[in-house]
Amino acid sequence: MKILVVGSGGREHAIIRKLAQSPKAEKIYCTPGNGGIEADGAECFDISATDIDGVVQLAQQLAVDLVVVAPDDPLVMGMVDALQAKGFMTFGPKKNAAIIEGSKVFSKELMKKYGIPTAKYEVFTDSEDAIAYVREQNTYPAVIKADGLALGKGVILAQNENEAVEAIRSMIDDKKFGESSSTIVVEEYLTGPEVSVLSFTDGKTMAPMLSSMDHKRAYDNDEGLNTGGMGTVAPNPYYTEDIAKECMEKIFIPTMNAMNAEGRTFEGCLYFGLMLTPDGPKVIEYNCRFGDPETQVVLPMLETDLVDIMEAIYSHTLSGVDVKWSDGCCTCVVMASGGYPLSYPKGLEISGLDSRGQVDGCEVFHAGTKLSDGKFLTNGGRVLGVTAKGLTLKGSIDNAYAGAAKISFENAHYRKDIGQRAMKALISDPLDLEYKQDLEDYLEENGVYLRQ
Ligand code: AMP
Ligand code: GLY
Repeated sequence: MKILVVGSGGREHAIIRKLAQSPKAEKIYCTPGNGGIEADGAECFDISATDIDGVVQLAQQLAVDLVVVAPDDPLVMGMVDALQAKGFMTFGPKKNAAIIEGSKVFSKELMKKYGIPTAKYEVFTDSEDAIAYVREQNTYPAVIKADGLALGKGVILAQNENEAVEAIRSMIDDKKFGESSSTIVVEEYLTGPEVSVLSFTDGKTMAPMLSSMDHKRAYDNDEGLNTGGMGTVAPNPYYTEDIAKECMEKIFIPTMNAMNAEGRTFEGCLYFGLMLTPDGPKVIEYNCRFGDPETQVVLPMLETDLVDIMEAIYSHTLSGVDVKWSDGCCTCVVMASGGYPLSYPKGLEISGLDSRGQVDGCEVFHAGTKLSDGKFLTNGGRVLGVTAKGLTLKGSIDNAYAGAAKISFENAHYRKDIGQRAMKALISDPLDLEYKQDLEDYLEENGVYLRQ
């Protein structure tokens, strides 16, 4: 099969590497791709991921058998519908289902209507009404969210009234995110560990992937600004078997059924951003796609052929596929440009990578890189996701950091504590047998003792 992947980040590189392991994948193309994706064997093109006509034409020109649309914008804009109209097999939801990420108001109303646990909320289009509501509630942090897509920056946790008023005015009156923020959601602040669960679904079957934990802040100990994600580990130790069962019954299956009942069957990868609150798991957000950098730790653990899964979702036969995951753990450490998530330079030479953009013992997923005269140069904020497996969480963390230590570029920045929160959870909260085993292995390897 000839496969075209739309997108250009670490997530797309991880998808491509997994697709390439399929005996069915004879040629993989990517648009626009990046330096590492190209060096790794996928032919790249200059067509932007949001250029629907351009991507349809490219798919026709290359006569591909499958198009995987990875990023949120083209999915929300209806790229899958346009490709299917020309007869292509696709992976990703149609426009009427991608709205689950494209509109927070839609997703909150869906959850309310179908009794899916989430934070309480109100919707506003008038800033004075929203401000009056926040003043009346008088509980901080106040959570203020733009309705539409906002490059991952549409959520503000206002610590006091002034911050809340400023956030509301900037979104509704100053149109900080354009039309995306002319409607806002103000919701209850929830607490508890966060878990990301991506799930394959064809609208009939939910096949959740391994759980994972993102690290969103720029610096160690969760300090600094929010970023697209500075690293991930899988599985997430807070996500026990009991919690997984509860999520399946109260969140995953009800969401699939709700979308069907609304005539918006979701086909693709549905991302559940969950918070494990004292009142049970609740949905923080839905995404209509693979997460970034969650995909980088989840797909390397997938044992089943990804092309088979994508074909089965397209033909609504996912129930016939046994989706299997490896034992052990996986860690991704994101190497970013100094200055990210604010301003940063581009074009710095990266050293330590082999000709395919890889290092021994790891999978290096390229995000912001380009190839120039056979050299890899930085070309974005998040540059590389250095990813490694291990039998234990500690093992995978050590392997990923050993890989990152081999790579350098001027002012490279990466967090040194990716996975530490998960390690603490394992040590203080070995809730189920699988993790007890992991904990015992860890103790044996490291001579660390449990707090009594
Ligand atoms: P989102 O872009 O919706 O993933 O939100 C970004 C981050 O804001 C989440 O990962 C949470 O850490 C935080 N967040 C969002 N909604 C809430 C909420 N209702 N309560 C507490 N934290 C939240
Ligand atoms: N890592 C969060 C996201 O992909 O939205």
